[in-house]
Amino acid sequence: KKVDIDLGQIEKGGYDHFMLKEIFEQPECLTNCMRGRINVEANHVTLSALIDYRLQLLKAKRIVIVACGTSWHAGLIGKQLIESFCRIPCEVEYASEFRYRNPVVTSDDVVIAISQSGETADTLAAIQLAKEKGAFIYGICNAIGSSIPRATDTGTYIHVGPEIGVASTKAFTGQVTVLTMFALALADAKGTINRDEYLKVVKELNRVPEIIKEVLKSNEKVRDLARTFTYAHNFLYLGRGYSYPVALEGALKLKEISYIHAEGYPAAEMKHGPIALIDSDMPVVVIATHNAMYEKVLSNIQEIKARQGRVIALVSKGDNTISRIADEVIELPDVLECLEPLVATIPLQLLAYHVAVCKGKNVDQPRNLAKSVTVE
Ligand code: G6P
Repeated sequence: KKVDIDLGQIEKGGYDHFMLKEIFEQPECLTNCMRGRINVEANHVTLSALIDYRLQLLKAKRIVIVACGTSWHAGLIGKQLIESFCRIPCEVEYASEFRYRNPVVTSDDVVIAISQSGETADTLAAIQLAKEKGAFIYGICNAIGSSIPRATDTGTYIHVGPEIGVASTKAFTGQVTVLTMFALALADAKGTINRDEYLKVVKELNRVPEIIKEVLKSNEKVRDLARTFTYAHNFLYLGRGYSYPVALEGALKLKEISYIHAEGYPAAEMKHGPIALIDSDMPVVVIATHNAMYEKVLSNIQEIKARQGRVIALVSKGDNTISRIADEVIELPDVLECLEPLVATIPLQLLAYHVAVCKGKNVDQPRNLAKSVTVE
C-alpha cells in the first residue's frame, strides 16, 4: 500500500510554517542555550570563552558590537546589558557601515560579532578589519563551524538549532540570552555587579523559558487581533530603554513578512516626527509594561489616542489603566526590566506572523529576502 508522506510537513512538526514552529520552540531553544552555562542552583553563569580568554576580555576598555538586521537589534540590547552590568562603554554598529568608514579600533577593544548564519559578508568583513587593527574578536553565532566563528578569537554559540524561516525569531532570543549571560559573567569577573543583583538576574534568566511558555498562550488572542489590522499600510512600534530595540525588531518582523511598512521608534522621539503620521488609520504598537518609564509611555499612549490612533499595547498583567484607553491589550507576566526583551518580543513575532498569514503571504520565504546574505 502506498503512503504519501509530505516531508516538508513532517519537518514543520505539525505547524503551518517554520516560522510558527520556531516561535513556539523558543522555550526549549533557550533552555538549550543556557544548558551547562547556568548551573542547576541558578546562581552562577559560566561561559567557556570567559574562562579561556578571561584576561583579554577583562582588559577591554571598550566593546564594539558589529552585526546586521535582527542580529544588530540583539546588539542594541547587548549594549544596554553590558554598559549597565559591566560599566564598559559599548557601541553598536551596522557591520556594513563599520567596514567602510575607517573606524577607530585599537588593541584595547573587544569586538563582538553577532550572526545567526555566521556567513553574512558585511559582518565577516567588519571582523577582518577589526582584527587588522588589533582588536580581540568574540563571536555570537548559531551555525556551527560557519565562517564567522572560524574568523573569531573565541565566542559562544547560541545553540538554538537550525533556523529555517527567513524572518529570524529563535535566533534573536538566543542571541539576547547569550548577551545577557556574557554581560553577567563579565560583570561578575570584573566585580561591577553586586551579588544580590547578579543572583536575581541569573535566577530570573533561568526562568525565562517558563515565562515564554506562558506568553505563548496569547497566540490565539494575537491571531484574532491581527485580523483587524490587515487593512493597514503603515505601523508604528514604540518602546523605551530595553524595549526600544524590541520595537525595532517588532517593526522589522512585520515589514519582512507582511510587506506592511513599519517603523520602530524610541517612544519619546514620537513628538519629533512620527506623531505627524498619526490618524485613525494608524496602528501603533506600544510596549508599555510596568517599568521605570511606565508613566512616560502612558502619556505617549494618551497623545496617540487624542489623535485617534489605534493602540495595541503590551502591558503588565493586571494593568487596568492602559487597558481602558488602548484599543487592544496583550498582557505580559512581570519580569525584570533587563530581561523584558526576551518576553516582549514573543507577541510581536506572533503579530507579524498572523498579519502575514491573514494577508496570504509566503511567511517562510518572503519576497526579495535571503536567509543568509553572503554578498554585499
Ligand atoms: C538577513 C536575514 C535576517 C538576518 C540578517 C543578518 O537579512 O534575512 O533575518 O537578521 O540577514 O543575518 P545573520 O545571519 O548575520 O544574523
